[in-house]
Amino acid sequence: MPIDAANPVPPTYPRRVGMDQVPAHVPKDLIRSAGITFGPEFLAAPHAYMAGLHDTMPPIFYDVGPMGNAWQVLKHEDALHILRHPETFSNAGATPFPRDPDDYFYFIPQEIDPPHHRKYRNIVDPVFSPQGVLKLEGKVRKLANDLIDQFIDAGSCEFTEAYGRPLPVMVFLDIMGLPQAMRDTFVEWAMALLHSNDRATMAETMGKITAYLKSAIAEKKAQPDDGVVSLIAHAAPGGVPLSDKEVFGFVCFLFIGGLDTVFASMNNIWLYLAQNPAKVREMIADPDNINAQLEELLRVWSVTFSGRVLIQDVEMRGVQLKKDDRVTCVLPACNFDPEVFPNPREVDFHRPRKTTLAFTVGVHSCMGAHLARLEMKIALQEWLRRIPEFAVKPGTRIEYRPGGVVGPEAVPLVW
Ligand code: HEM
Repeated sequence: MPIDAANPVPPTYPRRVGMDQVPAHVPKDLIRSAGITFGPEFLAAPHAYMAGLHDTMPPIFYDVGPMGNAWQVLKHEDALHILRHPETFSNAGATPFPRDPDDYFYFIPQEIDPPHHRKYRNIVDPVFSPQGVLKLEGKVRKLANDLIDQFIDAGSCEFTEAYGRPLPVMVFLDIMGLPQAMRDTFVEWAMALLHSNDRATMAETMGKITAYLKSAIAEKKAQPDDGVVSLIAHAAPGGVPLSDKEVFGFVCFLFIGGLDTVFASMNNIWLYLAQNPAKVREMIADPDNINAQLEELLRVWSVTFSGRVLIQDVEMRGVQLKKDDRVTCVLPACNFDPEVFPNPREVDFHRPRKTTLAFTVGVHSCMGAHLARLEMKIALQEWLRRIPEFAVKPGTRIEYRPGGVVGPEAVPLVW
């Protein structure tokens, strides 16, 4: 049924949680509780754990967990199929974020299936296109250097606090037209929503985000500026203004998608580089290969997942999946598929080019991918130019956050 994004309704299909809610069509031998995003084995070393799933789990298995039961897909080929067939694998209701059923809204564009989806992407794509983000290059480079100036002489820093987080969050807030003074509060909200793994905390945080963003949108409606919140608030595709719920759902999803993903990726990458100085030397010796280097780092250190809901029955690898089942493409595991990336755990800057899934593919491929790539490329170039030798602070124990964006909590570095 076509959706009416101006009058959203909560999805009608069941949310299944726990062993007693495994549907009858799921074969017993495919049921697991893998603990992806929260289990102790996962949290000990998430990427190694997800790479290892190819040896320890069937390529498609039914995972039972506290955040909801879902099929988990590990093979690169299967993920490509799912992500490229939105007519079977829908995004409607596929995000885990709770909302008030009496004041429901869709996360836009994430929860909107084609053909409606394009209408929303068209509004903001010019800002986030390769040409659009290139305009930010000078600003991002200056910010990277200003941040490095603040800690370089100390010979140490906590990477997340000093560089990995402020750089992308400040750029993002500028693009959105949201106040820098709210930076730490926004980060705190994003962390509670994405990493608490607790539906009550998530619901409470959604309440705070909602109140704040609604007032920010009202301000932009009264006083337009050149930020993305204002752009969305005043958008009228085909001459029809977006409804309040569309505007809110769109701004709200950008807030969720754009805050934490880049710095989680940077935390993973810098931790790896700090532990692998030979790779750093290789990067510095071959600066023209920076784009391939970054793609390879993003393959090995991808941070998030693609959730879908089936709108019709389908068979994959001989397994029957039924309408209303949830499916998660475990993108980091797909990026370690040995059939596509031989010796998958090895960071190899000269790998033959293949589709990697850090930003997903298909209609819902990440809207912020060009921005994120630009930020990370510049962040790497400036850091490696000014701090070519660095290591993890001796005695550090790296702790990973649970949740759907995978990365270490803190990365203390010395040089
Ligand atoms: C390294 C950083 C990032 C990573 C790894 C990442 C990853 C992803 C992935 C995997 C998806 C697809 C989810 C799905 O298939 O269900 C996605 C979608 C999305 N991302 Fe990102 N993202 C990043 C940065 C950003 C930034 C900076 C923004 C905003 C400025 C952003 C905005 C979005 C939006 C709006 C969507 C939904 C697109 C749609 O449904 O059409 N992302 N991202």
